[in-house]
Amino acid sequence: MDQDINSNPEGSAYGRPMHHHDAELVEVGPGTPCGEFMRRYWHPVALSADVTTTPQKVRILGEDLILFRDGRGRPGLLTPRCSHRGTSLYYGKVDDDGIRCCYHGWQFDVQGRCIDQPCEPQGGLAKNRIRQPWYPVEEIYGLVFAYMGPPAKKPVLPRWEVFEKLAPGQSIYVHGYTGFGVGADDTIKIVPMNWLQSYENIMDPFHVPMLHTRHRAVQYTPEAGHLPQVTYESTELGLNYIAHRKMKDGSTVERVSSAMMPLIMVVPDQKLEIGEPTSYIRWITPVDDQSHALFHAIRVPPGVDGRELFLNVSRPMPMGTSKMWSEMTEEEHQRHPTDWEAMVSQGPITLHSEEHLATSDNGVMTLRRLLKRQIMTVREGGDPMGVAFDPAKAVNKVTAGNYKRNAPEKALA
Ligand code: FES
Ligand SMILES: [Fe+2]
Repeated sequence: MDQDINSNPEGSAYGRPMHHHDAELVEVGPGTPCGEFMRRYWHPVALSADVTTTPQKVRILGEDLILFRDGRGRPGLLTPRCSHRGTSLYYGKVDDDGIRCCYHGWQFDVQGRCIDQPCEPQGGLAKNRIRQPWYPVEEIYGLVFAYMGPPAKKPVLPRWEVFEKLAPGQSIYVHGYTGFGVGADDTIKIVPMNWLQSYENIMDPFHVPMLHTRHRAVQYTPEAGHLPQVTYESTELGLNYIAHRKMKDGSTVERVSSAMMPLIMVVPDQKLEIGEPTSYIRWITPVDDQSHALFHAIRVPPGVDGRELFLNVSRPMPMGTSKMWSEMTEEEHQRHPTDWEAMVSQGPITLHSEEHLATSDNGVMTLRRLLKRQIMTVREGGDPMGVAFDPAKAVNKVTAGNYKRNAPEKALA
């Protein structure tokens, strides 16, 4: 696939081959191999606080849906086209029992059952035969999760140990639809690129010394500028990288970052503060093949402002400006690029056939192989990594964090 330097020794851009993305790896629409894999998990689709009796449009895994909360507090996720004659339920009216289509008043509950047909004799004698297509939703930690896969394969909604037993005064702060590396910038709703470009960044330890430290400015801590020695380890839910760095006091810090199936990332404190397992989890939710959203949950210590804490951990600081990411000028983006600029500039879906992966991409390659294995497992009728059907196995542990340990015996990357 590479351009042949024997036939084109000068490397001229003229006549270069057309390149393409790896469709099996990154396309998530209904019926695609990766889409079927993704549909075997719960995905966050909104913050609980944002789901009200006003219907809202959401697009998840390439499907347009309507999200609302009925008057009794139950969230519902239905397909938009009314089962009667296709008017969008976006214009529906919600009451205690469900959502009522604006056109002829058919009403559906949060599981799509048709409960009223006011223009039909006796409110619709055959209404029980109608079901508006729907997906299950559940709420936890202030997030609304949806399951869009085969009903018989619905796993238990995962819980996270770091959020389960809060000490007195601790709370959970959630933030949604914020672009990668832009902090709590509420104007950023959607990241305009394929989900994998975000996800594989978590297994890319070598961009930390370059993009975040040496390129222009120290965005976290000068010590992050040392090229780390890196090892990788498989975990129950995915993959960790361990970046070993010598600190000024001669000690070694191991920075453990996690990618968990299907689209969960745990990034330890970027300033290399030593800490117990990280209590900050990010979820990527594919909107479609060319865009995604991010949802965040962080445990907040007593007396700390959750939004401030989230801003500090999610945004490279300093960026040479105190502006929010969306307020920066083009020139400031050029001068202070972060993850967003590095990843979005690869295009809506990067051209995998054009890449030249090197030793520093071991984590990225391993993550892609792991994803392909899961896609294959689902294709062959199996259950992918990390799905649990037993409620007793719903609680997961986080292993990411910054740990002080002895120097590594050998480095793999
Ligand atoms: S189109 Fe919805 S009730 Fe007629
Ligand atoms: Fe980064």
